[in-house]
Amino acid sequence: MSRTLKVAALAGAALLTRRALRGRIARSPLWPLPALETPVSGYSPRRWLRALIVSRTEPAEGVLQLVLESADLPPWTPGAHVDVRLPSGLIRQYSLCGDPADTGRYTIAVRLIEDGRGGSREAHGRLTEGAELALRPPRNRFELVPAPSYAFVAGGIGITPILPMLRAATAAGADWTLLYCGRSRASMPFLPELEAYGPRVTLAPQDETGLPDLTALRAAGPGTAVYCCGPDGLMAAVRAAAPAGTPVHLERFTPAASTGTSRPFTVELHRSGRTIEVAADESALTAVRRELPDTPYSCEQGFCGTCQHRVLAGEVDHRDTLLTDGEREDSMLLCVSRATSAHLVLDL
Ligand code: FES
Repeated sequence: MSRTLKVAALAGAALLTRRALRGRIARSPLWPLPALETPVSGYSPRRWLRALIVSRTEPAEGVLQLVLESADLPPWTPGAHVDVRLPSGLIRQYSLCGDPADTGRYTIAVRLIEDGRGGSREAHGRLTEGAELALRPPRNRFELVPAPSYAFVAGGIGITPILPMLRAATAAGADWTLLYCGRSRASMPFLPELEAYGPRVTLAPQDETGLPDLTALRAAGPGTAVYCCGPDGLMAAVRAAAPAGTPVHLERFTPAASTGTSRPFTVELHRSGRTIEVAADESALTAVRRELPDTPYSCEQGFCGTCQHRVLAGEVDHRDTLLTDGEREDSMLLCVSRATSAHLVLDL
């Protein structure tokens, strides 16, 4: 299909029924996959999925909810997110907030951030019903661990990974509470579903209740697992309020504060045999992309994991809050982390 025909077909897709959309994607062999289809890292998911937007709604002020459908969507677990490739090529991460049992369908929600880096503005402005999207298979760095009880805390759009957790915890018969904070009720999505849970859910719209009260969290009993997704300040407060020894699980979609001074170092790209200089005022990712422009990346701020690569030799100055201790033993995030040794060898 020529590009012209494809554009015309996409414009008409909004008029198709959901069944027609499903059939259409199944017959679309020339669907345009992104340039990053073949990532160089063994850590990055190797394939892109394609899905159609079959529903676009606004569950709260400034929040866009999209339902994506495809026969190829892998299973997922509560807490998972997907990398979505926007029409401009920007890649953004969104938590899956639907039901894992609803196979063939993903639901995501996007908060509009007017003064952000552009991803949410593009999503709100260009992602319409009938459009095709590329996304990577779900990844989960915020797994719901089995526990007899949970204390969930969500701030704003941070409710998205928590929603499926509530359903899973309920199905497992666990005790749980949710403190859901936001600027105002009008800005807080999914209120009808949450209010149906009854007194286990405490709503804290700031224009009514002021700053969230974490007193109940301080009294969390032994065995309670704490989960929080929201702004940095909320996550810091939750971490501080949780009783000592209580596992606190945080989902970050904003960068951690940068630490440490930056010195130049060299990076050897083992597979290609080249050595590159990383200047003090640039990231390893920037330097690597001069040699390997297709090296995948997304947030450039150390929280999405797209630029994770294997380290074969050298000492890494890890500056992210994403990787586990195990992952740090042999990998790094190129966009924020640097070297404490003068030289690193990467599996690139
Ligand atoms: Fe997101 Fe590096 S690009 S962690």
